[in-house]
Amino acid sequence: MNQSPSQHWQAQSYAEHARFVADYGTPLLELLSPQPHERILDLGCGDGVLTQQIAQTGCKVVGLDGSADFVAAARGLGIDAVLGDGQQLDFDQEFDAVFSNAALHWMVDAEAVVRGMARALKKGGRVVAEFGGEGNIATIQTALTESLAAHGLQPRPCWYFPSENAYRTLLEKHGFNVQHIGLYPRPTPLPTGMAGWLATFAAPILPANINNETRRQVLERTVAMVEQVLPKENGQTVADYMRLRVLAVKAV
Ligand code: BEZ
Repeated sequence: MNQSPSQHWQAQSYAEHARFVADYGTPLLELLSPQPHERILDLGCGDGVLTQQIAQTGCKVVGLDGSADFVAAARGLGIDAVLGDGQQLDFDQEFDAVFSNAALHWMVDAEAVVRGMARALKKGGRVVAEFGGEGNIATIQTALTESLAAHGLQPRPCWYFPSENAYRTLLEKHGFNVQHIGLYPRPTPLPTGMAGWLATFAAPILPANINNETRRQVLERTVAMVEQVLPKENGQTVADYMRLRVLAVKAV
């Protein structure tokens, strides 16, 4: 099975550095509007904090994630969670909705994901998703790329940040009617700073064989570059997140 980069994450460190990810996902639950009779797939469920909120509305939820640690954390919350790769979904017309918050940008084979979501949904089922879109974390990505280049290294491709048009086209190709798609800036204060963010999220972009000292220098340089550019709010660095929010319905 192709493992997604999220397999490297550990639920405890994620909770410390990235609790805001689930907090920002709460408005997406309103767009999902889960109904008690429904069966819903939470694609890239992470540690299950949002999945639990969906389950509390009375519907049946399955969480799927590529990280064994996250799956264990979600199960600890009582979620029916399975380990799997979102690029290789194996569900057949069994869900009323696919929900996904801050996960689809980690799945670089976006066409495989959309094909799998279309197959997983019943006719008339919906996708409600939000993830990084065009321009997302551009300052951070540029600083990481330049810091790696200073050591003769290149970033590994690990993120997918599509434009509105590119994602609409992909959804329509796989039989979805797009009811809403919008790209919007969501400046995001980082509770444990740029260093905490990099410690949580940067591993997949760094070359697999990078040595500890080079890694330290790359991350230190990235922090210094980013801190010069990104604004601060109440002492916290504010990252340049761009979100793509989607509501699409599988044609009947
Ligand atoms: C995001 O949520 O946009 C994101 C988080 C970590 C790495 C890349 C993107």
